[in-house]
Amino acid sequence: MPRLRTSADWRDIFARNTTADRPIPWDEPIRWTPEDRRAIVASIQEFQLGEQSEGRYLRLCADRYAARTGDVDYPKAMRLFVGEEVRHAAELARLLTGAGERLKTTTPLDGAFRIVRKLGSGDGLEVCLRVLVTAEIVALSYYAALRDATECPVTRALCTQILRDESAHVRFHAERLALFQAARWPLARGIVRAAHRALMAGTTLAVWAGAHRRVFRRAGLSYADVATDTSRALSRRVLRVEADAHAPIPSALPIAA
Ligand SMILES: [Fe+2]
Ligand SMILES: [Fe+2]
Repeated sequence: MPRLRTSADWRDIFARNTTADRPIPWDEPIRWTPEDRRAIVASIQEFQLGEQSEGRYLRLCADRYAARTGDVDYPKAMRLFVGEEVRHAAELARLLTGAGERLKTTTPLDGAFRIVRKLGSGDGLEVCLRVLVTAEIVALSYYAALRDATECPVTRALCTQILRDESAHVRFHAERLALFQAARWPLARGIVRAAHRALMAGTTLAVWAGAHRRVFRRAGLSYADVATDTSRALSRRVLRVEADAHAPIPSALPIAA
């Protein structure tokens, strides 16, 4: 089993990313065909909004968690993580405006995510992270589909970069969720796992029901393909990490939630 990283490890990983090279050919024009635009613009507008909405409440939860556990590096890692999402929002905004399209200010799906993220009790971190990592898993399927939905080199390069970030984000959150699960009895762990699978399935359905369906379809994917992809990713990238985490790291031992 790979050792769980400490919050200081994650802080350093995200700090290195702030100066890492991102090979995206921004000097080139955005080459979207009319069919591309019909399929992807409304969807990218919504994702652009979602990427910039992971800020204040999440940082507050991380601060409360640090006060409770003494893991002072966790909020630092979280702030750098939020910075990566804000960068995604800025890059998607650059893509949209570069293609002559507008940005959106609010969408129903984004509003729903904001409300659900605030449903946590206590310091709220676990519910917040479970909702967030669920969205990150959808993002993995989404950006892979968006990359396949167009021949535009700028869009494809951006998707490749964001996918690399999102993959690390899922791991960052999964490792923290593993600490919460490790502090529970097996029955409680099973209930949480089942609830998370239901959340994953419901989120995938909600995403498919909205503007994003056209991106997946343009990439040649059916609803069954996407639902299978997100369900497998949840199992492999989150639930398995939780199951493997027998020894919580000393610097971040949580109090049972
Ligand atoms: Fe992102
Ligand atoms: Fe992310």
